[in-house]
Amino acid sequence: FREILRQDESLAPQTWLRIGGPAQYLAEPRNAAELESLLKACATEELPVHVLGSGSNVLVRDEGVSGVVVKLTAPDFARISIEGTTARAGCGVLLSHLVVETVGAGLAGMETLVGIPGTLGGAIRGNAGGRSGEIGQFIRSITVLSSTGQKFVRTADELSFAYRSSGISDLIILEAELELTKDDPEEIARRMRKLWIMKKSTQPLSFQSAGCIFKNPRGLSAGALIEQAGLKGTRVGQCEVSDRHGNFIVTYEGATSADVLRLIDLIRTKVAEKHGIDLELEIQVW
Ligand code: EPU
Repeated sequence: FREILRQDESLAPQTWLRIGGPAQYLAEPRNAAELESLLKACATEELPVHVLGSGSNVLVRDEGVSGVVVKLTAPDFARISIEGTTARAGCGVLLSHLVVETVGAGLAGMETLVGIPGTLGGAIRGNAGGRSGEIGQFIRSITVLSSTGQKFVRTADELSFAYRSSGISDLIILEAELELTKDDPEEIARRMRKLWIMKKSTQPLSFQSAGCIFKNPRGLSAGALIEQAGLKGTRVGQCEVSDRHGNFIVTYEGATSADVLRLIDLIRTKVAEKHGIDLELEIQVW
């Protein structure tokens, strides 16, 4: 299995923030069999395994990640098939691709996730979504691998989707079956356009970012709380709180993860002082 391990490769190009140190090992298995044997070997050698999707919701520390970072974006993990109102898709499928394919087939549901980056696997793990919907509500079942490489299926009633969480932590998602609904394609496209325009006008989508940094406290908007604390435009090194949306940190050439972490601390301190609220991270810090 060592043949597919790349040692000390920087993870910065693998993340949307374009920052962070190296992975002790990086592996891109070509298929499920290769992944299974990799997992078994990692279990034997007691090497921790971290699954990376498209890196759109992850901040990798400057010192890097120990163990094996696994990317599941090979063609074998990126298949989509549609039958009736059921879509079956691999963990490496980009959410944007799944939106296009299902909407193109006249199926409603995925259009509510328009503009969300990331892979299906990552989206399920973090129950990605927004005010218009969450991926969890469309999942009928997922096929997963345990950390020792055993394959099994988890149906929706065995999963516990909640705001930005799925209850899946030590399982590797291989593929999912989604239950969608038939609708008028014109209507679906209209809803999708409306959501996309709203997103583009409120979020800094052309900048390097990891999307929203903090979860919304119940009934409140983290972005609004950050704006009210006067933090928009606040800069640490080469990263800053977006002028457009307070819950986005954007990074510029030369930024480091330490800068982002310092800015996160500053935001949490100021929001706690102003509002008495402790903001919880929405992104994963590796
Ligand atoms: N607002 C401000 N200032 C800001 C940002 C927002 O006053 O800087 C206000 C807005 O005017 C609005 C309210 O706060 O009245 C809510 O803002 P918005 O509609 O932008 O939604 P959000 O709660 O900030 C959530 C998700 C986003 C998702 C949008 C749209 C979280 C943490 N964020 O943002 O998800 O795109 O709804 O559906 O749940 C992400 O997860 O990475 C993400 C960007």
